[in-house]
Formats: sequence, C-alpha cells, structure tokens
Amino acid sequence: MSESTLDNLLHENRTFPPSPEFAAQANVTAAAFDEAAADRLAFWDKQAQLLDWGQPWTQTLDWSNAPFAKWFVDGTLNVSLNCVDRHVDSGNGDKVAIHFEGEPGDTRTITYRDLQTEVSKAANALTELGVTADERVTIYMPMIPEAVFAMLACARLGAMHSVVFGGFSADALRSRIEDAHSRFVITADGGFRRGAPAALKPAVDEATAELDYVEKIVVVKRTNQEVEWTDRDVWWHELVDAASAEHTPELFDAEQPLFLLYTSGTTGSPKGIKHTSGGYLTQCLYTFNAVFDYKPDDVYWCTADIGWVTGHSYVVYGPLAAGATVVLYEGTPDSPHKGRWWELIEKYQVSILYTAPTAIRTFAKWGREIPEQFDLSSLRMLGSVGEPINPEAWMWYRHVIGGDRCPIVDTWWQTETGAAMISPLPGVTACKPGSAMRPLPGINVEIVNDAGEALEWGQGGYLAIAEPWPSMLRGIWGDDERFIDTYWSRWPGIYFAGDGAKYEDDGTIWLLGRVDDVMNVSGHRISTTEVESALVSYDGVAEAAVVGADDETSGQAIVGFVILEGTTEVTPSLVDDLRTHVSHEIGPIAKPKRIMIVDELPKTRSGKIMRRLLRDVAENRTLGDTTTLADPAVMALIRTGMDEASDED
Ligand code: WT7
Repeated sequence: MSESTLDNLLHENRTFPPSPEFAAQANVTAAAFDEAAADRLAFWDKQAQLLDWGQPWTQTLDWSNAPFAKWFVDGTLNVSLNCVDRHVDSGNGDKVAIHFEGEPGDTRTITYRDLQTEVSKAANALTELGVTADERVTIYMPMIPEAVFAMLACARLGAMHSVVFGGFSADALRSRIEDAHSRFVITADGGFRRGAPAALKPAVDEATAELDYVEKIVVVKRTNQEVEWTDRDVWWHELVDAASAEHTPELFDAEQPLFLLYTSGTTGSPKGIKHTSGGYLTQCLYTFNAVFDYKPDDVYWCTADIGWVTGHSYVVYGPLAAGATVVLYEGTPDSPHKGRWWELIEKYQVSILYTAPTAIRTFAKWGREIPEQFDLSSLRMLGSVGEPINPEAWMWYRHVIGGDRCPIVDTWWQTETGAAMISPLPGVTACKPGSAMRPLPGINVEIVNDAGEALEWGQGGYLAIAEPWPSMLRGIWGDDERFIDTYWSRWPGIYFAGDGAKYEDDGTIWLLGRVDDVMNVSGHRISTTEVESALVSYDGVAEAAVVGADDETSGQAIVGFVILEGTTEVTPSLVDDLRTHVSHEIGPIAKPKRIMIVDELPKTRSGKIMRRLLRDVAENRTLGDTTTLADPAVMALIRTGMDEASDED
C-alpha cells in the first residue's frame, strides 16, 4: 500500500465489518452477548461443560470471600488430561498437536498420541524425582517441545510450574526460584538463536549456587554445548527415556493451583501471579474458540514465548484444550533471513496468526517486499496482543499480511486476567484499526473515574473489571496483602487493571496504556523501579530515575537518568557499562535505550521524582508545568545532559 492510500484509510476513520463468509460460519454470533447478559454464570457453566470433568461442580462461583474467588466449586478435573488424553480418546490421536521448527531448521511433528506418550513419560519421571502436587517447578527453557511437555507434566501431577523467560538473567531467575522456593528446575543446555547456540544452564548454575533446597536440575540436551555438571543435575533424556509411557492422571479440585507467572508491578520485586485450573482452562478454551474462530482444520501459530502469559494461555492451554494444531518456533524472525516467519506460514499453511504490534511494526520497517515473496494465502485470521496497536500498523497487518481478507482481533488482557477480556469477535464485531472494541461475552468491563463510578460512553478514565471472571488470578504467591492492595483496594469489589481507557460515543473501547509506573517495551512489562534498583546497584551510582518514552518500534523505550556519587569518575564507557549492567541484572529486554548522567533530578517539594517531566525530556517535548518543582533550574541541567547523550542501538 502506498503512503497516500494508508493515509486515506486512516483519515476515513474506517470500520471493517465481518465479511459475509465469516459472519455465516463463525463459531460465535451476537446471540452470545445476549445469552451472557441474561445469565452470566449460566453462560460460563455452559463453557465449562466443554471440558472433561470428574466430579461435577456444585456452585459456579463462590465470591463470598472476595477478592479470593472460587469457580466451579467442588468440581474435579485434570488439566493435562483435557489438553492431551481426551483428544486421543476421541479418535484424534493422529492429529498433529505440534509442528516444531527449530532455529537451525530441524523439525519435529508431534501428534496428540505422541504428546500423550511424552507427557506421560515426563510425569512419571518427575514423580520419580520426587515432584508432588502443590510443588512449584521452575522451567527455564528455549521454545522447544520439551518446554510444553514439562508444563503439561507438571499440570498432570497437580504441581505448579513457574516458567521463567529464557531471556532473563541469572539474578532474575534466582529471585523467582527463591520466591517460589522451587525444589526442582527444568532447563536445557541452551537454545539456538540467530544461527548460534545460546547457553541457559550456566545461568541456572549461577542462580542456584547458594540455594541448597534446589534438589534436582533436569537438563534437556538441545545444543550439545559443554555444561558443568554436579550430582544434582540429571539429563532429561536419561530420566524420561527410562520412564513408563503409561500414566493415569489424578483428578484435582477445580481450584488446584496450575501455575505461577512472575510479572512486574509498580513497586518491589516481581510478583508471582497465581492461576488455578478449572476456571482458567474454561476461559482459555472459550476465548480460543470465540476470538480466533478456531476450526478443526486450522493451523494456528502464536509467536509468543512460553515465558509470557500469552505463551501459557495461547500457545499451550487454550489451543491444546481445543485439540488444535500449533506451530512452535524456536528462533527469531530475522534468522537466517527476514522472511523466516512468512516462510513458515507458507510451509505449514498457517491459517491463524497471533502476534504483537512491535513485531508488526518491525516487519513494516523491513518492507512489504519481504512477506510478498511468500504465499500467505492460507491465513484467514490475524490477532494482536501485548500493547495498543497503532492504526498504521493495524492497516499494514491487514493489507500486507492478511491480504485485506483476514479479520484482525486486537485482544486486551493481562497476566492477571489469564485469558482475553476485550476483543472483537470475527463474525460479529466491526473492527476499527487500533481498538480492542468490546468486552467479550460474560466479561463485565467498565471504565470508571477516580471514585470508581462507571462512566458513560464518550468518557475516559480507568479500565476496571466489575465482576469476577473464570480465569482471574487467584492471588500473588505468598502475599495476600499485596494482592488486595494492588488490585482491589482502590474501589471495593472492583478490579483495578492499571490501564487508562476511553469510550467512544458508540461504546467502542480504546486502550490508552498504563496509568502506573509500569513500562511496556515490545509488549513486555517492566517496572521503572526494577530498572532503577538495577542502576543504583552499580558502584558509584547515587540515584536513578527511569521512564518509558514513546518509541516507534518497541512502543516504549527505557530511558534512565542517573546521578553519580561525587567521587565517581565519568569514563567514556560509563553509559554503556550502566546499560550492560542492567541487562545483566534483569535481562536484555530491560536494557535502557538511553542513559543520561545528570546532576539533579526534578522533584516535588515533598521529594517525589516527577517522572512526567522526565518523560517530556526523554520524548523531546516542550516541558509541562514545572511550578511544583523544588528547583525549576534542575530541568535546564537535565536538558543539557540530554543533548549530549547519544542515542544508541
Ligand atoms: C498489559 C498487560 C496480554 C498478554 C501480554 C501482556 C497491555 C496487552 C493489549 C492490547 C492495549 C494491551 C496493557 C496491559 N496490553 N494487550 N491489545 N491493547 N494494551 O501481558 O505483560 O501482563 O501486560 O499489556 O497495558 O495492562 P502483561
């Protein structure tokens, strides 16, 4: 599309109604909204019945101990059985569950029967090691099938997994293992990235060196890199090969914890978001079917890493509960060439693609000539997640990737919500580029003011969720008080999501980004305080402030302002050393794009750092109101620092 066509489309304020073909065959029609509005709990009851249960539930929702919800009270099920065995039992054992494509081009085709064998073996092997129900098993792995086997094996045993993104540093890994007090870690020698093996095991060794309670480290051999070995290490293949392929899953309570997933908050260390079984799987399955309009012949590819919630709910649990065929890809989009994703879509005939705006913007920057070299005609549905998608990127996605025929579902949700909450339905909703449109059936979202009062259409405020939903988080691991404080204390009984939002006059919802000090960098959540702590842990740094500045590709970019101790020498490499230090402390995703060494930080008279002003500086805007500043001259100093700072990477 030429620049001018794109401009025209954007200025026309176009909406894209469902095509007649889609509307005619969609899994969900407008009646779902009426049905859910008439009896919300009956609606979720019906969705839960699509899973295999042992004992039926006696009550759909118990909210008497709010905000600690129980869904499908007294019901029993096994999540792994629902994602694996039942598809084999219903005659789909030969259907492909996973098309795996390794970064070097190695492939594996895993049917549901294979998946049952692998998960059963892994479950037996973990049992033999001593893994029991309620255990927290940390998984730190590349995007390889064993990562999925490991998650499903834990689920099968009623043990929680805590998947830590493989891009996190040893320090970040340690704090998560410590918080969950994991006795077991599952990892790999490494994974392949951009044509070369990247190590993982050394980070596990470093992270667990002083954690005596870590009993076993199970290591998948993926890259054949040399690894250090102690007697608490055990090879996955030795352990799993020796295990029986028969495993009868036990049924657990609907509220049996399924996983912890650590995510950044405004203050303090990352929090372990706790999800449980029955409600979580119900909403993952419902939304997978409804939002992506999944059909049994679809080949579905969600590009998220299993280290994030999208990888949990929409690489593993939602699609596998539905018995879908998923693509699992180990590598990056640009290796060995910038058409790798499109090549994979052509190769596997992918029909549903779910990815993030930051990826779409990157591809747009690389140019449409690249995807145009491949046959993308198998695609019929596109999804977006992780941050607001700008209309330009939406239009590019629709036109260049979707050939103007695929609906785009922009799905708003969070680690805490467990599954999608606001999204178009492809057969029902007319889409507007950049908007997640409407809450899904059975989900009660409101936009509220400071007092927690629901606003009318046409107004803007905070995004809130007014009634409990099946896949809601059940708590923060080991910290009920923080759970209540963070989400439930602003307005009683109403969930505070942390996002700003506004209603258009017709009720369309526009998400406006975080209202707290959480940054969104390439769809990843990073808190300003975490990066600030990493900066001040560097020898010679006295104080640091961090903001997320608008960025064309990554949505937001991390910009740090650092005050040095008087005696610290400013070497030419200092800024780079600081950036590397943050990367080492947290992980490359948290590496600041820019750092400015300054003499002062703008503070209110009560001593609070005025991040708003720093953001103005970082985005090169005219400064906002500085009258509450203790010393307005400070901003002039910072500006000077800014002009001298280099914009690297
Ligand atoms: C935050 C949650 C949802 C899984 C991946 C991120 C932002 C997410 C959208 C969207 C606008 C979005 C919000 C939210 N966000 N999806 N479609 N439109 N904003 O999960 O790391 O828990 O981050 O991501 O700000 O609060 P997460």
